[in-house]
Amino acid sequence: MEYKNLLIETSNGITTLMINRPQVLNALNSDVVRELECALYELDLDAAVRVIIVTGAGEKAFVAGADIKEMSEISAYEAHDFARRGQRLMLLINKMTTPVIAAVNGYALGGGLELALACDFIYASEKAKFGFPEVGLGIIPGFGGTQNLARLIGPNRANELIFTGRIINAAQAHAWGIVNEICAPGDLLPMAVSTAREIVGKGALGVTYAKDAITNGLNMTKEDGFRYEASLFGVLFATSDQREGMGAFLEKRTAEFKGK
Ligand code: CAA
Repeated sequence: MEYKNLLIETSNGITTLMINRPQVLNALNSDVVRELECALYELDLDAAVRVIIVTGAGEKAFVAGADIKEMSEISAYEAHDFARRGQRLMLLINKMTTPVIAAVNGYALGGGLELALACDFIYASEKAKFGFPEVGLGIIPGFGGTQNLARLIGPNRANELIFTGRIINAAQAHAWGIVNEICAPGDLLPMAVSTAREIVGKGALGVTYAKDAITNGLNMTKEDGFRYEASLFGVLFATSDQREGMGAFLEKRTAEFKGK
């Protein structure tokens, strides 16, 4: 499928998905949200895609938020619908079997930070900036930001960031646990690709089931999460990847996983 606002490239199991509206700092209008949902859904069904890296086009921004121009003219009903569509995209990223890394190359504000937070983890350039400016626009984050940020860094820091609309730099976002690693701008995609390669070298089913256990387990009591983990652990013993992984260890060779 052709996308107007996305550049998608796959090589050796690693797909780079670039949001490409640099003239408006990659702001998410309803077309971009729809394209992202379709593209990610398609990529998740493609067995040749093992890891997805999401990033933004241009020097300045990952995504500077939902498109304020478009939002300024919508009704309450349309705003509710837009938020639900944005949230459906964020939940899709959680539910996908493929790991998704956010490579934040510049501003990640509002819906842009929400997109990054929905990914499985975030790498950032030293130039990246993070924040939820929504209260300064008379609204609140609407693509899951209040929920995902508070779950990731706790309510106190999430409250401070969201109530003030303050924009923080990459070092602060790293110190608060929003970002896993920071690097020079030119190293960002190579760093994400290098981690993606490590993941591609492991058993695809193991990675997928680990994502499932972590993501879904977070919504369960600890005891239910443990039970869920044990059931996924058990199912993996019915796969050839488990036999290959353990066989290769015992035979002191590199495993060749088939994702089956
Ligand atoms: N929506 C629409 N257009 C945007 C945009 C956005 N979120 N962010 C930037 N742009 C546009 C600007 O209007 C400008 O367009 P023109 O050249 O036509 O004027 C262009 O991108 C470049 O932006 P600036 O000239 O403003 O660049 P700057 O370097 O001076 O400032 C910035 C950069 C601080 C990121 C500033 O652009 C900014 O504050 N953007 C808005 C950030 C924001 O409030 N995001 C939250 C949106 S609400 C939301 O996301 C709700 C939700 O949870 C779903």
